Amino acid sequence: MISKNSRLFLQSLKEEGIEEIYLPSTALIITEPTICILSKASSPPEIQPSSPISSSAANSLRDQMIDLRSQAFGCTRCGELAATRKSVVFGAGNLEAEVVFVGEAPGKDEDEQGLPFVGAAGQLLTKIIEAIGYTRKQVFICNVLKCRPPGNRTPHPDEIINCQPYLKSQLALIKPKMICALGNHAAHTLLGMEKPMSQLRGYFYDYEGIRLTCTYHPAYLLRNPEDKKKVWEDMKRMRREIDLLMARDPMF
Ligand code: URA
Repeated sequence: MISKNSRLFLQSLKEEGIEEIYLPSTALIITEPTICILSKASSPPEIQPSSPISSSAANSLRDQMIDLRSQAFGCTRCGELAATRKSVVFGAGNLEAEVVFVGEAPGKDEDEQGLPFVGAAGQLLTKIIEAIGYTRKQVFICNVLKCRPPGNRTPHPDEIINCQPYLKSQLALIKPKMICALGNHAAHTLLGMEKPMSQLRGYFYDYEGIRLTCTYHPAYLLRNPEDKKKVWEDMKRMRREIDLLMARDPMF
C-alpha cells in the first residue's frame, strides 16, 4: 500500500518520462547529509552530529570550503560578470556527497536566489536526483561558472578558464565517488574534449582520480523531452556504478 504522497511523486516522475525508480539494496543505506553548505553567505553551514568522518576532519573540510566560497564571493576576474551579477552562485549540498552534479552557469532565478538549479531546469534536476534514490541535500550541485552570464548567454572561453580553479578546488575538497557533468559545457570543461553529448554519454571517464560521467542538461530536456529516456538510462548506469564503488570502499 503506497501513500497518497508517494503516488503523486511517482505520477510526477512518470510525466517526466521516468518509469521506474531506483530502490537501494539493503546493503546500501543512504545516510542523511552530514555536512551542508549553502551558497549564500548569510546561511551558516551546518554540521550534523552523525558525520562518518572525524569531526576535526569535517571542520577542516568545512573551513576550507568556506574559505574557497569567500574567494569566489570577492572574485572580479570576469569584469562583465562581476559587474552584472546579483549573487555568486557557489554551489550547495553535502560536502561528503557521493556524487557532484556540475551544470553550466546560473540563470536568472539562481542569480536572484544565490543557489544553483532552482528554476525550471532545477526542478527537473531535483526529480532526476530523487529518481535515483538521493535527495538534493545528499548530493552537491554546482556549475562551471559561478556567476550568471548576462541574458543567459553562452559562457565565454576566458570566463570558463577564470572560473575553473573554483570548480577544481570544490571537486578536490569533496572528493566524490562520481561527478556527473550536465550538458556540453560541463562535459567539455571537465573532460577537455569537445565531442557532442551523443558521443560522450554512456561512458565513465577519469577526472583527477574521480569517476566522471555525463548526460544531457535538464534545460535541454525541457526543450527535447524525447531524450528523457536516454538521461534515465544514464542515471541508472551511474547509480549502479556508484553502488559498486561504495561496495568496494564502504568507508568512503
Ligand atoms: N542551468 C545551469 O546550468 N545551472 C543552473 O544553476 C541553472 C540552470
